[in-house]
Amino acid sequence: MLHLHHSWLCFRSWLAGMLAVLLALAPSASSNISTSRPNILLLMADDLGIGDIGCYGNNTMRQGTENYSPGAPSADISLCCPGWRMVSSIGYRVLQWTGASGGLPTNETTFAKILKEKGYATGLVGKWHLGLNCESASDHCHHPLHHGFDHFYGMPFSLMGDCAHWELSEKRVNLEQKLNFLFQVLALVALTLAAGKLTHLIPVSWTPVIWSALSAVLLLAGSYFVGALIVHADCLLMRNHTITEQPMRFQTTTPLILQEVASFLKRNKHGPFLLFVSFLHVHIPLITMENFLGKSLHGLYGDNVEEMDWMVGQILDTLDMEGLTNSTLIYFTSDHGGSLENQLGNSQYGGWNGIYKGGKGMGGWEGGIRVPGIFRWPGVLPAGQVIGEPTSLMDVFPTVVQLAGGEVPQDRYRTTQRNNSALHRHKGTMWKVHFVTPVFQPEGAGACYGRKVCPCFGEKVLHHDPPLLFDLSRDPSETHVLTPASEPVFYQVMERVQQAVREHQRTLSPVPLQLDRLGNIWRPWLQPCCGPFPLCWCLREDGPQ
Ligand SMILES: *[C@@H]1O[C@H](CO)[C@@H](O)[C@H](O)[C@H]1NC(C)=O
Ligand SMILES: *[C@@H]1O[C@H](CO)[C@@H](O)[C@H](O)[C@H]1NC(C)=O
Ligand SMILES: *[C@@H]1O[C@H](CO)[C@@H](O)[C@H](O)[C@H]1NC(C)=O
Ligand SMILES: *[C@@H]1O[C@H](CO)[C@@H](O)[C@H](O)[C@H]1NC(C)=O
Repeated sequence: MLHLHHSWLCFRSWLAGMLAVLLALAPSASSNISTSRPNILLLMADDLGIGDIGCYGNNTMRQGTENYSPGAPSADISLCCPGWRMVSSIGYRVLQWTGASGGLPTNETTFAKILKEKGYATGLVGKWHLGLNCESASDHCHHPLHHGFDHFYGMPFSLMGDCAHWELSEKRVNLEQKLNFLFQVLALVALTLAAGKLTHLIPVSWTPVIWSALSAVLLLAGSYFVGALIVHADCLLMRNHTITEQPMRFQTTTPLILQEVASFLKRNKHGPFLLFVSFLHVHIPLITMENFLGKSLHGLYGDNVEEMDWMVGQILDTLDMEGLTNSTLIYFTSDHGGSLENQLGNSQYGGWNGIYKGGKGMGGWEGGIRVPGIFRWPGVLPAGQVIGEPTSLMDVFPTVVQLAGGEVPQDRYRTTQRNNSALHRHKGTMWKVHFVTPVFQPEGAGACYGRKVCPCFGEKVLHHDPPLLFDLSRDPSETHVLTPASEPVFYQVMERVQQAVREHQRTLSPVPLQLDRLGNIWRPWLQPCCGPFPLCWCLREDGPQ
């Protein structure tokens, strides 16, 4: 995809030393071109499926692709089981409110922090769903500027279906329904008591009648307030520490993001820089500009993917114009696979994961964890190649740190590399073991259509004993479960994997639960609000800086 021409390189799978793999490709190039301290441009799509992309075989999605290498890709982390630095014990996998207190702890070392120390200009444009405040609405303890970025423009939260007034709501409708239900119960109680009192059938005083009526009114007001809060107050844009639009205006968001990227690149063209463009695309509600609407062969979702592809093209044009093409390593990927649950009637509102089973939020199924992994670094990386070596999104950290001449923190266990590949590889075969899989709804549907996302622990998942074994090299779609009868090395593989799991578990230690109930409830005093609370409304956009 992505204006790929032949200068791109596609990775086929996940997990390994990304840099080692990249540079092994280019032994001659690396001797004449300086491979140290390049500019780094990370492009990450939200919820894009691997099957949506031309580079990975989609021939009906119009993209800037001319000659692309067929093949499959690279890396991931499914939403099931959130990052190791942000965990919860009760099932929340992301922050639910901008006014929640959870977030990436300030004492964590991000690659942006290391690159900044190494003299890089560091910018983040787009989504930051790792928290905002701890104790007051403006302490911004979790803000990107406290995590190594010099510059931030975008949403200090995630774009959600709730940001637009339509049916694909992620939490608003659910909350409103609950509050409305309680309202109805209380209203009924109030009416019954009142009727009983008036007809002398129920011997009560007026006090409980008044209290239940008052509570009913409060709940009704609450359900309107919650709806308004979610739609308006949580869908906002900020530049550095300043709220620029609340609620954000969708028609101008894409052009503003592009202008911000362009001005960052111009300002920092003497480099080196790290720019992380964390797209709001292609998450619902699929905000798409007029000129892309109705243009693709795949409905609103396809329109949105094509618009993002155009954005990537615009960013690459800016790089070209500023003469940065050869000094910049670009990595395009997606945070995880497409969401299969995002359907409205027969319309597709979520990504397509190609031949792979499952999708976003489903733990280990390939559709959720195989994501595109596309690199460009002219003069250093050969163009038009497809690589089968596995890499992981976790490899981004050591890769960019090493390229910048920095050092990864030495005070923690490094689980990112060989450990995981040992998990998967054995004599050229790629094994995959599932200990837990989601329970689909309806049964056998291949996704959890009855919910927004599959649950990932507790009663709502299947625990397998013996675990499910697949040979991904022969069965990438995970359709044939191997058994001791069908697979001669079944027990050997299982033993090796169990050992790796035990080793991994030994390295885990408890961390504060950022996504647990207390960290993940709405706290009015933490609500970012650019007007007098609760009137969170402003428009202070004075153009990109
Ligand atoms: C690197 O140098 C070698 C010879 O010194 C040359 O053949 C090759 O084309 C150069 N590679 C690049 C990418 O410039
Ligand atoms: C291309 O992507 C669209 C959108 O996700 C999907 O509906 C379609 O099936 C894909 N086509 C191919 C050939 O994979
Ligand atoms: C950060 O602080 C928390 C709580 O004070 C602590 O549990 C955690 O280990 C610290 N993390 C690092 C990387 O220092
Ligand atoms: C954002 O903040 C950083 C650090 O405080 C500053 O260097 C940068 O110029 C700011 N950007 C804008 C647009 O104000």
